[in-house]
Amino acid sequence: MAITSFREQFQEPDRQPNSSRKKKGRHNQSKTKQTGEDLLQATAAADETGNQEEGIRPQRLADYIGQKELKDVLEIGISAAKGRNEALDHLLLYGPPGLGKTTMSLILATEMGVNCKITAAPALERPRDIVGILVNLKPGDVLFIDEIHRLSRMTEELLYPAMEDYRLDITIGKGQSARTRSIPLPRFTLVGATTRVGSLTSPLRDRFGMIQRLRFYEPDELTLIVHRTAEVLKVSVTQDGAEEIARRSRGTPRIANRLLKRVRDYAQVKGLEPINQQVAAEALKVFDVDPSGLDWTDRLLLKVMIEQFNGGPVGLEAVAAATGEDTQTIEEVYEPYLLQIGFLHRTPRGRVATPAARKHLRYE
Ligand code: ADE
Repeated sequence: MAITSFREQFQEPDRQPNSSRKKKGRHNQSKTKQTGEDLLQATAAADETGNQEEGIRPQRLADYIGQKELKDVLEIGISAAKGRNEALDHLLLYGPPGLGKTTMSLILATEMGVNCKITAAPALERPRDIVGILVNLKPGDVLFIDEIHRLSRMTEELLYPAMEDYRLDITIGKGQSARTRSIPLPRFTLVGATTRVGSLTSPLRDRFGMIQRLRFYEPDELTLIVHRTAEVLKVSVTQDGAEEIARRSRGTPRIANRLLKRVRDYAQVKGLEPINQQVAAEALKVFDVDPSGLDWTDRLLLKVMIEQFNGGPVGLEAVAAATGEDTQTIEEVYEPYLLQIGFLHRTPRGRVATPAARKHLRYE
């Protein structure tokens, strides 16, 4: 099969050639047949309202609050790559959800003046999914793959030569008539995101030139983010109001922005603008977010450990069974923050609810 017809075969049918390049630096999140993008868009759309979400995400590195070490590393990488007129090295971002991995990927593309293609590993199950994306990349483009630890083996193996040598090795035909073709790819940047860096295979992990962790945000960083988002949403928040929301946001900008929206609704309905500390605290009580930012599920997890397992140590599976949550959600969504604030310990014999957790839940 000739390369041209191969390209045609994988060309996204509903996209005009170069349509995504009309505006350089715009993020290519247009609807295509690639389910990865649909998937990500669907999740984003469920939570946010289109344009507003774009405004809430910082667009440039200079506007990105927090993650100083990461920004320092990326600033150097961007400047060096631009100086050499090359694509940025592949980057692996890991850390709990909601800390800004997608946002950082979009910023990188903007800073480099290229497009960012967004997808997620579960949408790349068949080799043709990743092939279709790779052959449509333009020089320098950023390809963002969320949940990269969940790639299928075949997709992952296609990525090795693509990342290392900018080459796609595909097999055409079956059995005796099978032939391998190598297709050159433009130099591109793969940004992989994961909440479980330990689950990546080492051949994949080793192909990233930069491996960076995102950490939870400090309350003063989240306060700045709340102020910034409030400006975008055109809602008035006092300093102590922003601090109250920040304190209850579990070190996570996505949660800070979500809580701000809920507090805004409350303030609007009750006619209580500007949002000060009292309004924020009242509203968040209504939404069942406690002063440490714990929600109903966090408290249930700790309660079950304390009441049913005598505070632990207790295995993850047992906690999951007793609470009805699945183990992965507990591990990736709930536990990181409970560990961070010292309400939970992980020991070789299982999870332990700490005295601080008991005190918080008034068991003493
Ligand atoms: N909105 C969400 N995350 C942000 C960040 N890190 N900086 C600025 N605004 C944000």
